[in-house]
Amino acid sequence: MSDIRSKDFPAHVAIIMDGNGRWANQQGLPRIEGHRRGAEAVRRTLKTAYDAGIHCLTLYAFSVENWNRPQDEIDGLMRLLEQFLKENSKQIIKMEARFRVVGRYEELPNAIQDRLRQLEADTANNTKHTLALALNYGSRTEIVDAVSALAEDVKNGRVDPSAIDYSCIRSYLYTDDLPDPDLVIRTSGECRLSNFLLLQSAYSEIYISDVLWPDFSREHLQAALDDYASRERRYGKTGEQVSIPKI
Ligand code: FPP
Repeated sequence: MSDIRSKDFPAHVAIIMDGNGRWANQQGLPRIEGHRRGAEAVRRTLKTAYDAGIHCLTLYAFSVENWNRPQDEIDGLMRLLEQFLKENSKQIIKMEARFRVVGRYEELPNAIQDRLRQLEADTANNTKHTLALALNYGSRTEIVDAVSALAEDVKNGRVDPSAIDYSCIRSYLYTDDLPDPDLVIRTSGECRLSNFLLLQSAYSEIYISDVLWPDFSREHLQAALDDYASRERRYGKTGEQVSIPKI
């Protein structure tokens, strides 16, 4: 098996984990079984990604729009999340990952909030890796929360409106202490961002994998990393500009 490392390596990989329901349908199983296998894929991917040298991983686990799903599916997802935290917190601490929640987490069930806060506190000083779980997350909600907090600070005289620039706005996002993703992976072949890190992914490379999330493996991550290594990131410059070595 080839070495998963590459010189053009993404420091921050964000993943839209899609296809749990279709995976379950294909197997003739209830949707929740697809999510359960999806949670196993999360556990596997953490290890694979960190072993590979990815510093920061953000996983889209529950969107603000997911509350519109049938109540039994929402309850099942919350149970899986609680179980995941119960069974994997020690491992995350052992991996020296700093754990972060991005999203409106006060609207999650109290028992889950307690586990999330505990894990954030237990890993706050870790620097080797970062694991961000996007929970009750949506970019538009994030922007609403950011603008509302910023407006409050302007009203109180803490921020001068003429000094507002993007870095000021960025500091109000849930992801203020995370780097922007270099690579966004979406599984299940769907080609959309679904309200995920819309501002943060302005210059991210996007990779669509046809595999359904429960089947996502080391080989699929390797394929995404190989594809990333072949891209030229230009940030608005010309190809010539970015390929000329600095003297
Ligand atoms: C999308 O699949 C996936 C979700 C809405 C939730 C993601 C949840 C997990 C990966 C498992 C639980 C997570 C943790 C961290 C324990 P879908 O249901 O939209 O699939 P479909 O498009 O095929 O129906």
